[in-house]
Amino acid sequence: MSWLVTGGAGYIGAHVVRALVDGGERVAVYDDLSTGSAERVPGGVPLVVGSVLDGAALEDAFRDHAVTGVVHIAAKKQVGESVERPLHYYRENVTGLQTLLEAMTSAGVDRLVFSSSAAVYGMPDVDLVTEDTPCLPMSPYGETKLIGEWLIGAAARAHGLRAASLRYFNVAGAAAPELSDSGVFNLIPMVFERLAAGEAPRVFGDDYATPDGTCVRDYIHVRDIASAHLAAARRLGDAPEGTSLVLNIGRGEGSSVREMVDRILKVADRQDLAPQVTERRPGDPARVVASADRAREELGWSARHGLDDMIDSAWQGWCHRHG
Ligand code: WQD
Repeated sequence: MSWLVTGGAGYIGAHVVRALVDGGERVAVYDDLSTGSAERVPGGVPLVVGSVLDGAALEDAFRDHAVTGVVHIAAKKQVGESVERPLHYYRENVTGLQTLLEAMTSAGVDRLVFSSSAAVYGMPDVDLVTEDTPCLPMSPYGETKLIGEWLIGAAARAHGLRAASLRYFNVAGAAAPELSDSGVFNLIPMVFERLAAGEAPRVFGDDYATPDGTCVRDYIHVRDIASAHLAAARRLGDAPEGTSLVLNIGRGEGSSVREMVDRILKVADRQDLAPQVTERRPGDPARVVASADRAREELGWSARHGLDDMIDSAWQGWCHRHG
């Protein structure tokens, strides 16, 4: 098959592109370079600079690169920003996906792997979140991902699309320093930033109903996220018309903020900076950990990389970017 990866010049997209290429798939990247960078696209992989809001440009890309399937990663992904700019998030993430689905339908491209998020669950009150846990997103960002899944489900039923929506849990790490996340919006890079400023890392609340009082998440290496896309792409190859899978992509293991911060301080060799407990951050659920059973059953996929690998590689990336 021949895949168009939207958002392929971004942090997660660049890893997915490499996994597909290494898996022997043909790949072209479609990215508006608003947050991605052309340097992340490997040599030999064509880059089309365009917006997912431009249906004609998408159809041109399908034709020019003989596309048979799309991996749709391009999206806005900052939860806080989505609260400030909900209409922007709805346009980019929902109208963008709708435009893509219309272009795919009119061009006869009928395979889609979609980047969804654990943000669709909101504040789940369960030990392990399964795909059947009720979805009650707490932010416009999470809403756009859930609506995206609905759009895809409807297109699968009506137009025979074969699709997999992958609900990523907390993504971290890098396959190489130059592929690391350049944003500072999540726990690991936020701690690095504090350390770089010579400040103690912050723990947002230690009075949650969890073993050490700090929030528990399911951190997963971006290389595992990437291999899940390759597995999903292959799974869709011979799937019947109308197949629409929704799969958690996590490790199925919880780690607390305190545990993460301790590990990060060790890797960065800054154990002198004792973590500082501050107020809770509004909207944070106490615990969000995946059941990864369905992805294993449907894709034969499971995560291979652990926390040390995630934190070490994220640190190498930080040092690469900040000297
Ligand atoms: C993790 C934990 C913080 C920084 C978000 C989105 C989710 C997905 C991943 C997009 C929380 C705590 C953080 C700090 C801290 N995004 N923390 N001190 O909120 O689980 O998930 O990013 O696709 O949809 O909601 O991730 O990395 O921001 O926070 O104590 O300096 O670390 O309170 O408990 P989160 P995060």
